[in-house]
Amino acid sequence: MERVEAKDYVFHRDFTKEYPMIVRAEGVYLYDEQGNRYLDASSGAIAANLGHGVTEIAEAMAEQAKTAGFVHTLRFETKVLHELAAEIGKMAPAPLNRVYFTSGGSEANESAMKLARQYHRDRGKLEKHIVIGRWQGYHGNTLGSLSAGGDIKRRQPYTPNLAKFEHIYSPYCHRCPYSRTEEICQREKRMPCAEELERLVKEIGPEFVSSFICEPIVGSQQGAVVPPKGYLQRVREICDQYEIVLIIDEVMTGFGRTGTDFAIEQFGVVPDIITFGKGVSAGYAPLAGMIVSDQIVESLVANGNGRFIHGYTFSGHPVSVAAGLAAVRYYKQKNVLANGKEQGEYLFQRLRDLQKRHSSMGQIRGKGLLVGFELLADRSRDQLFPPSFGAADRLNHEALKRGAVFYPGAGTIDGVNGDHLLIGPPLTITREEIDELVAILDQSLAAFEEQVYTITGKEE
Ligand SMILES: Cc1ncc(COP(=O)(O)O)c(C=O)c1O
Repeated sequence: MERVEAKDYVFHRDFTKEYPMIVRAEGVYLYDEQGNRYLDASSGAIAANLGHGVTEIAEAMAEQAKTAGFVHTLRFETKVLHELAAEIGKMAPAPLNRVYFTSGGSEANESAMKLARQYHRDRGKLEKHIVIGRWQGYHGNTLGSLSAGGDIKRRQPYTPNLAKFEHIYSPYCHRCPYSRTEEICQREKRMPCAEELERLVKEIGPEFVSSFICEPIVGSQQGAVVPPKGYLQRVREICDQYEIVLIIDEVMTGFGRTGTDFAIEQFGVVPDIITFGKGVSAGYAPLAGMIVSDQIVESLVANGNGRFIHGYTFSGHPVSVAAGLAAVRYYKQKNVLANGKEQGEYLFQRLRDLQKRHSSMGQIRGKGLLVGFELLADRSRDQLFPPSFGAADRLNHEALKRGAVFYPGAGTIDGVNGDHLLIGPPLTITREEIDELVAILDQSLAAFEEQVYTITGKEE
């Protein structure tokens, strides 16, 4: 490989692709060096919740970098760390008060799963160590978080390295893995997808199970799938019954993305640990973490010498935390959540209209401004694309050419089959910008469907 330019020294995410060089970003738009403008309809990876170019956050970071750019939280703390912890602790459901910071969501989930294990161990439950996750879930790419998640594509190359975690299917009523419908489950007041958790716990032996981790609304892997009424409550009951720490992964859904500070509030369930990331700093700095219940922290103090045997160099990094503090204040001061909710409802309505014109748009779902839809080869026959077609990537490519970037996903149904597009623009987006997003999506879907028709025609 010849190295001529600086970019030839970059370990790119994908060496087969050319990446536009972004030279400026403002509001919901990104600008590349060619002068192209992209509407950021996915907030990066559902992170830039406040849009780009917020000077309040940039200034807070610069100020903290000048004041104390780095201190190690093993020896020192900073005012911004205390202030942000207080803001987040107050935002979380009542018994979750203690905030632990990491740099990314994968680290946050690693921390939560390790803390659950230490909690049991400190209390003499030495055998409790197994983590149960869900096949349709994503918790990060570090080996532990990857072991907890279920995305076959991401897991498969590393299968020999993954920890022996257990999994259940997550609820996807639209394509129920148990061939039921939501109505039947509600009528019978029994959800096999939730009962499977209890069955698995009994099979493993409750004395071995440490924690259960899931997303409240499945983000990147399924495209905003919302669980049925009562599912998370039943999960909570099972966790209580067998002394299992319930970890709710709000890395994508937290900080207003679904219309409330945390999505779990909408399901009337209080977990033991909430993990967060992305939106906490609105993407301005690597920042994530977990909010831990008083019960777990009190046990740590009483039974574990007060020390969580864990930590990272950049836990509570002052500049990242300063970005988080400025972002969290901005959400409140500008009433961002109310706008996100309003624009989310408008987006839903516009997508439903769009669906009437596009046979490739399947079920539309989500909450707030975390919205997804299935991509189908033919909606009238409920026909999926073959996985090798790369449908979602193709659609996103069409959108990029027309000036918008979405979050495509594949393996929606079972890790292999199914495609979806996830839409999650900054929560600060305006109604006019939603109209522009929908117009670009409309044109992109038309071009995509044309492409599908041409290819299918040729094959036949
Ligand atoms: C629900 C969820 N958990 C964890 C992660 C991992 O976060 P990070 O990429 O910051 O490590 C993600 C990232 O997309 C996510 O969506």
